Amino acid sequence: MKVLGIETSCDETGLALYDSARGLVAHALHSQVALHEAYGGVVPELASRDHIRRVVPLTERVLADAACALADLDGIAFTEGPGLAGALLVGASIANALAFALEKPAVGVHHMEGHLLSPLLSSPRPQFPFVALLVSGGHSELYEVRGVGGYRLLGQTLDDAAGEAFDKTAKLLGLPYPGGPALERLATEGRPGAATLPRPMLASGDLDLSFSGLKTAVSTLSHKAPLSDQRKADLARAFEEAIVDVLVAKAMAALDETGLERLVVAGGVGANRLLRRQLSAASARRGAELYFPELEFCTDNGAMIALVGALRLDAGTAAHYAFSVKPRWPLESVLRVASAAR
Ligand code: KG4
Ligand code: ZN
Repeated sequence: MKVLGIETSCDETGLALYDSARGLVAHALHSQVALHEAYGGVVPELASRDHIRRVVPLTERVLADAACALADLDGIAFTEGPGLAGALLVGASIANALAFALEKPAVGVHHMEGHLLSPLLSSPRPQFPFVALLVSGGHSELYEVRGVGGYRLLGQTLDDAAGEAFDKTAKLLGLPYPGGPALERLATEGRPGAATLPRPMLASGDLDLSFSGLKTAVSTLSHKAPLSDQRKADLARAFEEAIVDVLVAKAMAALDETGLERLVVAGGVGANRLLRRQLSAASARRGAELYFPELEFCTDNGAMIALVGALRLDAGTAAHYAFSVKPRWPLESVLRVASAAR
């Protein structure tokens, strides 16, 4: 099963070809970071227009890299939601037009299911069931994953997502968009113990998270005096340590609660090196298995969409060309795939 995947939910145009027999064959990405930088965040209309410019050349490049003709495709997968409505519509319309012309199925994929299953692109692949820590710009959730489409929400953020907290705190410290990677770089220059921040929800007794207080605490501390470069770095370090401590503790608590000893981390914040190090250490201490996507597949990409499309088409998902997009879409409402739930 050869599936072309198209991701256009936000500020990255991602294309990929996934073959059920061979794995990921080719992928290409265009990031719009430079386009949105001047505005300090994603401008939806600019995002849609740029996706329109990029999607066809990237499709041609991926097919050429894979030495695959359009006629060889068995299906086209696209991000149906959640995301920016106009941006989603670009991927949805090109995918459905291509599929209709080729008389092949088009399958709409949940963006977060793409992130959740992206560790399956790496080798070794995690076996089901596992606990997933999903930490991106718009989501911070813990799921029990029993199979493709078998997702039980264990806990989630009550306010900001982890990536959103990174981005907003980075802005407070005068760092450019996107804030996560910039804050991570600055934190390496921070001195240990130079600033202390709370660990929100650590003792809440459940698996929910909350990050907006952390951002407010940084804001309060940064308004106390003019911020020297060293003080900014100290605050960045304290912030990163606080958020990572909470994520690690909650992920371990989710393993306790489910009785599972297999943890998968996905989403853009999964690229954070301190988080990866601390999760590795905590998992090793209890003998749990830990899986990350490759760094390039932590953030938005077409490979994860092609992968989920192939898993769903392999399982016999029906196709139709009357498409919609779902800017808001609860992950637990995606269809359960019985045959993949072993
Ligand atoms: O998954 P993603 O690419 O897009 C969404 O679906 O949201 O995640 C983007 C988020 C942004 O908030 C970005 O700042 C954050 O992931 N991020 C990071 C790092 N790389 C990306 N946060 C912390 N450390 C990083 N290295
Ligand atoms: Zn994403």
